[in-house]
Amino acid sequence: MKDFLSLVDLSPAELNDLLDLATKLKEEWREGGNEPLLRGKSLAMLFQKPSLRTRVSFEMAMVHLGGYAFYLSPSEVKMGGRESIPDVARVLSGYVDAIMARVFDHDHILQLAEYATVPVINGLSDYSHPAQSFADLFTIRELKGRLEGLTLAYVGDGNNVARSLLFGAMRTGLHFKIASPPGYTLSEEDVSLAEQMRLADDQRIELYQDPIRAVAGADVLYTDVWTSMGQEEETAARLQLFPPYQVNRKLVSQAKPDCLVMHCLPAHRGEEITDEVADGPNSVLFPQAENRLHAQKAILVKLLLNL
Ligand code: CP
Ligand code: NVA
Repeated sequence: MKDFLSLVDLSPAELNDLLDLATKLKEEWREGGNEPLLRGKSLAMLFQKPSLRTRVSFEMAMVHLGGYAFYLSPSEVKMGGRESIPDVARVLSGYVDAIMARVFDHDHILQLAEYATVPVINGLSDYSHPAQSFADLFTIRELKGRLEGLTLAYVGDGNNVARSLLFGAMRTGLHFKIASPPGYTLSEEDVSLAEQMRLADDQRIELYQDPIRAVAGADVLYTDVWTSMGQEEETAARLQLFPPYQVNRKLVSQAKPDCLVMHCLPAHRGEEITDEVADGPNSVLFPQAENRLHAQKAILVKLLLNL
């Protein structure tokens, strides 16, 4: 594994080993701190879009492991504008041990990986958010004790987060259901790729328009913003279509009583999720956010130590 670009690239065994490593690193950190496994290693963090969790959790993961990380702002690098993406990749490869990037166009992360000689980590693109989904699988496994056989229902836009969750679910034995307005669900291509990633033949992928049907009996209820970064001009149109997909108390009551309510954050409270649910008894939003730190330590250790 040179890069961490998509959960599609990891075998079920590799994903499982990475989850075990995240568990170990979290326990170690809780017991007083991590070993400086990444002493002397450096991470460049290139951002074309804003971030709180991704930026801070990757940076702190490097710090806890004895390494060093630094932030490169969109206006500083102007990737693809001031300088071509292949040149950015080649230059940074001479200075640092790994690159994490958040880009608008997924093709840009693929180009970075192609031309960099050091590992490249996808910190979100318009297509996917695998670091988020990996941390989400870690959270579900930690809180439910397993992944296989559970049902994850995603309600809202069939976006980058939904796509990575679908792939991660298939690799780890979860059933996946999604409810979206017409025209906003995952594509046939996504579903067909996901079908090839199944751990077990009986794993279900179900696409609905009715959120109540999608959520019925779910172990995990997941949502994300209705308008992602880069789609701002569609906000008004989306606000017309998405209100029936709000995760509110009534919708949560259709899932299992002990279902985990998850959201990658940032949340637009009052739109895709109500305060009552975000702060309610089923919500795991903040342990979920914290787990980005622990999960990404595992990704960094695996890539940087070439495990
Ligand atoms: N969930 C997530 O990636 O958050 P940020 O956009 O704040 O990094
Ligand atoms: N789907 C959202 C996720 C943010 C972490 C976006 O791309 O803006």
